[in-house]
Amino acid sequence: MPKVLVATDKPFAKVAVDQIKSLFDHAGYDCRFFEKYKSQEELVEAAKDAEAIIIRSDIIDLEVLKNAPKLKIVVRAGAGYDNVDLAAAAERNVVVMNTPGQNSNAVAELIFGLLVYQARNGFNGTAGTELKGKKIGIHAYGNVGSNVARIAKGFGMEVYAHDPYVPKESIEADGVQVLDNSAELYATCDFVSLHLPANKYTIKSINYDLLSHMKADATLVNTARKEVIDEDDLLKIFAQNETFHYISDIAPDNKATLEKDYGSRCFFTLKKMGAQTAEANINAGIAAAKQIIGFFEEGITTFKVN
Ligand code: 3PG
Repeated sequence: MPKVLVATDKPFAKVAVDQIKSLFDHAGYDCRFFEKYKSQEELVEAAKDAEAIIIRSDIIDLEVLKNAPKLKIVVRAGAGYDNVDLAAAAERNVVVMNTPGQNSNAVAELIFGLLVYQARNGFNGTAGTELKGKKIGIHAYGNVGSNVARIAKGFGMEVYAHDPYVPKESIEADGVQVLDNSAELYATCDFVSLHLPANKYTIKSINYDLLSHMKADATLVNTARKEVIDEDDLLKIFAQNETFHYISDIAPDNKATLEKDYGSRCFFTLKKMGAQTAEANINAGIAAAKQIIGFFEEGITTFKVN
């Protein structure tokens, strides 16, 4: 009876929790939910006897791994796995997986919520603008990016993308215009939406050089990771481009400064909430649970990332 810990500081919707629990009950697994914890030490403690852990943005670092000697697998219920120490996990023969694509529609829908909020001046009653006919640039065209393209077309937007890792033809097949150069994407579009993972190649890659190409009145929307932005450079851009906007569901470290100096041009949700829908929680949570059962019962390692 493998012991599974579902460690979600930001809990899944109840309907997802019930379904995950029922799946593990049927498989005869011992599943425990550990939610809204106060510190990393509590997570270390809770993970001690786990053989499998499901997480969201929860941090699986060396301390967690060192103190969980029975741990065999960690599944990140979601796309990005920058919150897991992959090397330390590999050293201890702990398999790490993600569940790509399962929450991408939720993230893409939130982007349009943010864009409309921005375009309508925070719903303050003044005349705003419409998305129809505007140009949106998708920086990195993965699962979320392709959902953004689909929805943007429904709004009547012109859709552009830049992603050197995805074949041009497959992006074009979605009716999206591919720009080979990221600077061109930033210079062309009214809205640029970020979908880069956070890794050693992308951290702080959204910098002054790139952002200085953006048009006056352009909006940068970030539902990827705060780490991909160079925050000092972002401040310079706010000062230089007096109609630039930045909206995100991941508050930057310099949120207080931005809100104080440029409050009318930035907006941050209280919590990271792109993937926070019942549907995304069910999709990602169930996928994670099935991947754990498949791993223990049949040794399946699809979606292994380390
Ligand atoms: C992801 O990487 O899947 C998203 O950023 C969602 O993260 P969350 O599960 O912490 O909401």
